[in-house]
Amino acid sequence: MCGIVGYIGKEKTTPLLLQGLKRLEYRGYDSAGLALSINGSLTVLRQKGNLDQLEKIVDHDKLDSRLGIGHTRWATHGEPSKRNSHPHTDCSGKIAVVHNGIIENWHELRDELIDSGHEFTSETDTETLAHLVEANFNGDLKEAVKKALRRIKGSYAIAVISSEDPSKLIAARKDSPLVLGIAESGIFVASDIPALIDQTRKIVIIEDEELVEVAQDGYQITSGDDVLIKRDSIEVKWDIEAAEKGGFADFMLKEIYEQPSAIQDTLRGQLDEDGKVNFDDLLLDKEKIEDIDKIFIVACGTSLHAGMIAKLAIEKWAHISVEIDCSSEFRYREPVLSDKSLLIAITQSGETADTLAGIRKAKEKGAKIIAVTNVVGSSITREADGVVYTHAGPEIGVAATKTHVSQIAALILLSMFIARQKNGLDDSFFQKIAESLSKVPEKVDEILGKAETIKEWAKKYHDVYDFLFIGRGVGYPVAMEGALKLKEISYIHAEGYPAGEMKHGPIALINDGVPVLAIALKGKVFEKIVSNMQEAKSRGGSIIAITDSDDNQIRALTDDVFVIPESDEMSSAILSVIPLQLLSYFIAKERGCNVDQPRNLAKSVTVE
Ligand code: M6R
Repeated sequence: MCGIVGYIGKEKTTPLLLQGLKRLEYRGYDSAGLALSINGSLTVLRQKGNLDQLEKIVDHDKLDSRLGIGHTRWATHGEPSKRNSHPHTDCSGKIAVVHNGIIENWHELRDELIDSGHEFTSETDTETLAHLVEANFNGDLKEAVKKALRRIKGSYAIAVISSEDPSKLIAARKDSPLVLGIAESGIFVASDIPALIDQTRKIVIIEDEELVEVAQDGYQITSGDDVLIKRDSIEVKWDIEAAEKGGFADFMLKEIYEQPSAIQDTLRGQLDEDGKVNFDDLLLDKEKIEDIDKIFIVACGTSLHAGMIAKLAIEKWAHISVEIDCSSEFRYREPVLSDKSLLIAITQSGETADTLAGIRKAKEKGAKIIAVTNVVGSSITREADGVVYTHAGPEIGVAATKTHVSQIAALILLSMFIARQKNGLDDSFFQKIAESLSKVPEKVDEILGKAETIKEWAKKYHDVYDFLFIGRGVGYPVAMEGALKLKEISYIHAEGYPAGEMKHGPIALINDGVPVLAIALKGKVFEKIVSNMQEAKSRGGSIIAITDSDDNQIRALTDDVFVIPESDEMSSAILSVIPLQLLSYFIAKERGCNVDQPRNLAKSVTVE
């Protein structure tokens, strides 16, 4: 995840910025940079790789600065490289910008700026902002930034400096965190509290759509509609470990709570309100997609479960047959592929060895390849014909949570895209799905607000030996994911099963008190799963339901029920998996397990 640190004050800037950036390293990044105001001009230093690489080109004796901004970049637009790393500057090199977030309308702004003579040197959305500030600059940096931001759609936390107005640092935020740190020697700006904790514990939280002008001895916050805001600092008491986890007990819990914004960021800029999907890096045009007669999906673990939802969406909406396989099986079987086949490979890390091998196999047979990944510049992006990015930010907990829901969101978009090219479903259909998707982040928030209910369940169920998860339709992959999450972090034996298959064997596992958790979603298989729950209950199982149907029939049948908000069929998979993540988390905690680093598991599986 990108990180921002800025400083204006009496001390030398460079060591302070480097120290702050170092504190943000744990979040993951691929390049780093600094912009320093020195004797009336800006010095910009940037490097691909880690901070050690940046430090190699820093000559502290020559960099005598009292104003500067720094950044660690996690690539979203443009590969990890020196020229794409922040800070970005305008044409004159007198304005420098660091940015976290996504500028949705950067293409059109960039075209407009190029038409009026601006020259771009990177592939990033952020550089647009540097030129926009330049275009609006009239000697007052704050005014220029304010005007530039009025043109921006999307999310941002920014810090901007200019050699033409060197007594201030301007920062602003929308949907991306930003704080000030008040120290004896000066004032810091940062995207996250850990960056500041070595220097000060006096923190001012900047709220959404606020802009702040920071000088050596004070700051002035204004709201989006230009009203002056008085806000004092608060004292943070966190140690560095708590600060890194944003006050959450574990990275996994933090990441579970980051899911609304991870989904929002994945939809941002890739879906418009009319249901049109735009993928910057897909590189497959209408003709190529029209030509496809079969789709294959390969992935492992949690990514495979996201793929199972994509299969349902593509077959239903685009009417193309989809085969899905775990990568380790696909790579050694003899799938019938041709140049009319499309392979969708899903991997949050972009490095999973079996999935990469699956791609190579499909390529040999002439298939086109789309990768769905969270990591720009990862191995898979270099091997695929086109890439669809999830924008979940780096995930530190081994258990995939926010990357999973972002995968489902991105795959729903990809399914819409293919369906639109393929069979021309009418516009109102896509509009409805877009409308429903746009409400998913707030519905996830609503579910997270009821986490206490699930915590209570965990007290009741944490010492069982077996746990069964059942579902039908999109509820089936969700059940699989629920079982995987529980076994990987709590070490309880868990099975995820298609509910209708239970009577062909697994129902024998059920006896008194075995928890059977059903994903019971409204739709054509609702009555069927209710019957399956009935079958489990009559064998003594404790029946738990995650449902969007708050009715007496379900209440009468269940020991515990969690009602999720209604949504469209595919995105209800996102909503119903959230309580399962929480359940695994709270059960694992009850059992004293290390949820962030479960035994025997690695975040990225780069070996066969
Ligand atoms: O990086 P990938 O998405 O390719 O990883 C695949 C699996 O190893 C991964 O999804 C794994 O199942 C999860 N970490 C489980 O939570």
